[in-house]
Amino acid sequence: MRHRKLFLVLLVLFLAAAALLFAASQFSLSALNEPGRLETYAATKVKRWLVRRSARGLLPAEPPRGSASVNTGGMIFRGECAACHGIEGRKPTDIGRWMYPRTLDLGSPQVQQWSDAELFWIIKNGVRMTGMPGFGKLHSDEQIWHLVHYIRSLGAQPRQ
Ligand code: HEC
Repeated sequence: MRHRKLFLVLLVLFLAAAALLFAASQFSLSALNEPGRLETYAATKVKRWLVRRSARGLLPAEPPRGSASVNTGGMIFRGECAACHGIEGRKPTDIGRWMYPRTLDLGSPQVQQWSDAELFWIIKNGVRMTGMPGFGKLHSDEQIWHLVHYIRSLGAQPRQ
């Protein structure tokens, strides 16, 4: 009886090790492959949950919305963000397109569904393990708000 249990445990361990080895042999570090569906689903869920949790709490004062803020945000965007996200934020550059995970169209529903507080958090802190840098040490909170307003203005435009 004892021996049977031990044998079963060893068998399960062996199968788990074999499965791990197989997964490792299939894994590729290449950024060219398209992310799989399961990977995208799991990574998006975890990202949403973590950003939502982190963005709770007090937000720095928001400058008035409107075209002045959107224009200032657009100027900063073209200087700091366009290298990956494209001049208009809607069509990623070649570099942005071939990052892993890929840079997104900032006017798309995927991005526009973030709340203002979440967008603010993402721009300030960046997203770990992706190409998205954190700008909290480069820009003031007010400048980050201008960028949030600029990104919101992209959602209102028709798709290119
Ligand atoms: C070096 C390339 C790079 C630069 C520069 C960059 N980004 Fe990003 N950004 C990315 C990548 C890659 C992603 C996708 C990350 C992901 O999949 O979670 C991203 C995602 C985002 C998102 C959406 C996050 C999401 O997951 O929905 C926002 C908003 C954003 N960037 C804003 C900006 C702003 C504003 C700037 C400039 C201040 C900027 N980015 C500069 C690469 C960059």
